Order: sequence, then C-alpha cells, then structure tokens
Amino acid sequence: MDRFVITGGQRLTGEVAVGGAKNSVLPIMAAALLTDDEVVIRRVPRLRDVASQVKVLQSLGARVLHDEKQGILRIRCDDATPVTAPYELMKTMRASICVLGPLLAKRKRARVSMPGGCVIGVRPIDLHLRGMEQLGATIEVKAGYVEAHATQLRGTIQFLGSSAGSTVLGTANVVMAATLADGETILENAAQEPEVVDLCRVLQKMGAQIDGIGSHCLRITGVPRLHGVDHAVIPDRIEAGTFVVAAAITGGDVTVRDCEPRDLLALIERLRAAGVEITVGPTWLRVAAPRRFRPIDVTTLPHPGFPTDLQAQLMALLTTADGISMVHERIYPDRFIHVAELHRMGARIRKEGATAIIEGVPKLSGAPVMASDLRGSAALVLAGLAAEGETTVDRVYHIDRGYERIDERLRRLGARIERRKSDVAPLAMAAAGG
Ligand code: EPU
Repeated sequence: MDRFVITGGQRLTGEVAVGGAKNSVLPIMAAALLTDDEVVIRRVPRLRDVASQVKVLQSLGARVLHDEKQGILRIRCDDATPVTAPYELMKTMRASICVLGPLLAKRKRARVSMPGGCVIGVRPIDLHLRGMEQLGATIEVKAGYVEAHATQLRGTIQFLGSSAGSTVLGTANVVMAATLADGETILENAAQEPEVVDLCRVLQKMGAQIDGIGSHCLRITGVPRLHGVDHAVIPDRIEAGTFVVAAAITGGDVTVRDCEPRDLLALIERLRAAGVEITVGPTWLRVAAPRRFRPIDVTTLPHPGFPTDLQAQLMALLTTADGISMVHERIYPDRFIHVAELHRMGARIRKEGATAIIEGVPKLSGAPVMASDLRGSAALVLAGLAAEGETTVDRVYHIDRGYERIDERLRRLGARIERRKSDVAPLAMAAAGG
C-alpha cells in the first residue's frame, strides 16, 4: 500500500509523453478470444488493470506473454474449453465484462461473473445482456454469474442505449459478438469514443467487416472466422487530459507529447474558456496557464462531448477560479466522491443532484486525503500540486490502475511528489471501477 506526499506550489514545466490508452487496450485484449491465432498488442501501458485483464484471459485458457518493458502483449487463445470468468478476478475491474461477447461468439458459451459495484455509482450491464439476447443468445443471471449460450448468433438491427446515452463497453461487447454472427447486425446509438474506434480497427484487421466506424451507426457483417493481428493502441486521451490540467492548475508551461489532440477538443475548448492558452500541434499540445482562471460551466456527455473521466480533474482546477463554476455530470450522476476530499483542502463545492456548484477560493491548502476511485484520485493529486503546503493522498493503488508511474512523470516536470509506504488498509480494492 502506497501513498503520495505532495508539496504544492511548484510550477510544472517541460515535456511529458502520453502512453497507450487503458480503455483501448482492455477490450482489445478481450478481442484475442475471437481467434485461435496470436494477437500482438503494442504500446501497452504498465497498469494494474492490464495485469488484471491478463489474469482474466489466463483463467479462460489464454497463453499470454507480457513484455512490460517494451509494452508488448502476445496473446493466444487456441484452447476453447474454459468458459468461466470467476468473481475473484472480475470484481477488480469493470472492463473484464468485455470477455462475454467474444466467448459467446467463439465458444458459444460463457459463464462470467457480474462485475460488481463501483464507487462512481451503479453500473448496470443490462444493455450488454440485451444486446447479446437480440443476437440470439439465451441468458440467465444465476448466483452472481451471467450464464449465456447460443448455438449460433444471428445478426439483427438493434438500438443500444440508456437514458445516459450510448454505452462504451456495451458497444464493444456487442460489436465483438456480432463479428462472428450469421448475417448483418446494425447497431444504432453505438458509442463513438476513440477507444471503440480503436477496437473496431483491430477487429477489421482481424478480418471483421464493419462499416460506419466512428459514427453512431455500426453495420457489422458476420464472417466465419477471424485471424491474428498486430496493433499499437491509441494514445490515452484521459492521461493526456490529466497532464494538461496538471500544467494549467500549477500555472505551468508544459508540452504534452505523443497524444491525439482531436480526441481532446471538448477539454481544450473548456480550458480556453477558463483562460488557459493551448497551442495544438498534430501530435502534441502546449499548455500555458494564466495567473487566475475564469469560472466556467461544463457538462459531461458521451464523445465528442466533455468526458466524464476528466470531470474530477477539471473540478480540481475550478476550485480556484475567480467566481462560480458549475459541473453537470450526465454519465454517472454519483461520480462526486472527490468533492468531500476537495472540501478538506479548502474547496467550496455544493452538490445539488448531479450538479456541483463550485465557488472559487484564492488558494487550496494541503491536507491528508483519501483516494477512492481512479479519476477522483488523479484530481486529488492535481489539487495537491496546486495547494499551499503538504498533501498526502492515501490508497494510490486506485491511481496505479490507470496511470503509469504518474509520480515519476510529474516529478520530471518539476512537481514535488513522493511515493511512500502507507499504513491504510486497501478497503475499497474490490469495489474498483474503471
Ligand atoms: N449503462 C446502463 N446499462 C448498461 C451499460 C451502461 O445503464 O448496460 C449506463 C451507465 O450506468 C452510464 C452510461 O450508461 O450511466 C454510460 O456507461 P458506459 O457503459 O459507457 O460505461 P463503461 O463502458 O462501463 C467506460 C469506461 C469508463 C468511462 C465510461 C464512460 C472502460 C474500461 N471504462 O465504462 O472509464 O467512464 O466508459 O465514458 O472503458 C475510467 O477509465 O476511469 C472509467 C471509469
């Protein structure tokens, strides 16, 4: 168990490179279950969630070689016998549910533990299950497990959405299942997130027929088999966005390299509205921060809207804006667990339903705080970098799930952040989201 000790007030300067996208690599790893051939994934970040997904695949008979230093995963799933993904592995990470579609499509049977609760709110999988049923699968939920089987999946026309809009992993699951179905599947209201696009490109390289990639309507024509692939995942837009906000919140001047600025347009637009100067290059962003921020309103939405995964980080920045800002959370109405911890650092935030009203204060002050989810912990680190005095962020295993060596990389930009052993027990481990 580790914690971060941060001495705030250092201006970040220099360059930082972004790694491969966590939320791309996890479903792409599950796609390896769709073929007997080897799947090679490059630009794999060194994250706890990747290690967890490796274990899930191994429990399903996969042989996995993980060259962590080079960031390369080689996965071969030619033993089609195991179909059970157990609770002990599934409970640590939401993305493990992505094995359901590939198992059903290739092995015709799946017994997959429900992924469990999560501190960012209730995260149902009804849309995943409905999508599979519409492809012809029979599904039962028994003793915490989804038990699914099908003699052969069949293409259909379906609408895949909830009151919050599209579903990212639901789209990934149904698309993967449809690649080996008989006939054509049309998915209306498909998620348009860059990570879904990346997965679809991988499936195409494996021989899948998918039209409309990147749009809200995907048309998948089933094929009898898929083959191996060698693919480098896209840059992590949330990691890039977190570094952008880190530069801004410390009044810094940082170039974020090896990223895809087009995937971050909503963040760039909102930060410019707050007074941050951002220069956009083909694969980089340069952030030059003002002395004070203007208050802004932001609403999280499915892509290309403002990502919920950057809501907490932006809120940390708005705690010191010159006036009142509003943050409306439309994807996960309860994703405000960071608010109470930001209060401990002197922030003034009032929550009304799924909206946070933030009254900017001149400065945050360092305090001991506790991380309880991945993006919320990133926000606490950012707040600590900007605050006066010392901040300790406990339970940083949450942050290690999604950011590779963030402390080292921030240090290279001039931050005073140290990783130390902690005496707090890993209570919330099982309830991790992602
Ligand atoms: N929803 C349902 N039923 C479903 C599925 C989703 O009602 O069957 C609702 C959810 O409750 C939510 C909305 O639909 O209100 C969108 O959820 P979505 O399914 O898109 O989320 P997800 O696919 O489970 C991924 C990311 C999350 C990210 C969301 C939204 C991965 C591994 N996770 O989750 O990332 O917040 O999309 O963009 O890709 C993170 O990385 O920290 C993280 C939480």
